[in-house]
Amino acid sequence: MVRLTGLKKIKCSVFISGTGSNLKSLIQFSNKKNSPISIELIISDNFNAKGLKFGKIYKISNKVFNYKNKSIAEKRIFSEIKKKKIKLICLAGFMKILSKKFIKNFKGEILNIHPSLLPKYKGLNTHQRVISNGEKYSGCTVHFVNSRLDSGKIILQKKVKISKGETAKSLAKKILIQEHILYPKAIKKVFSL
Ligand code: GAR
Repeated sequence: MVRLTGLKKIKCSVFISGTGSNLKSLIQFSNKKNSPISIELIISDNFNAKGLKFGKIYKISNKVFNYKNKSIAEKRIFSEIKKKKIKLICLAGFMKILSKKFIKNFKGEILNIHPSLLPKYKGLNTHQRVISNGEKYSGCTVHFVNSRLDSGKIILQKKVKISKGETAKSLAKKILIQEHILYPKAIKKVFSL
């Protein structure tokens, strides 16, 4: 656990690619008085990401980077997060993989949320694979990011029961509700004021 001194909140950037429901829950969490984080920057690889609207709603700066050239995109992101003195990156439905170089050079923590009970079902299309395999449970995981996909140290997990007739869509919805609770909890576990 990282204990923060005084009332200084840790400056955080949230990376998104799509809807941004986890971003919204993290912003609401950060706005609570006893939250250890303050969200200073939203980053996306997708100009059409629906979640970018939360930047406008909550008055947090948004930056979108064209990922046609990943190395240039990452250089620009890196300089942006340095400028803003970001010490925590929360990946929240960010569908690009950060390079080893980026992870190594960033002097702070990088967290990710993944919609499965890791180490099971890393990667994409999680819910359909879980259902096709006849699993009884799935869930979500918040973990530290390292250079291997969905493989960093696990911080917290939440198990969700799979119902009869469950579809990938219904399971995604059920798990997402738990993600919104789990991500703030995991941040609190890592950082405390
Ligand atoms: C979430 O279910 C998140 O766990 C998943 O994408 C969704 C984003 O939803 N992330 C991954 O699959 C990363 N591999 P949101 O945009 O509404 O937060």
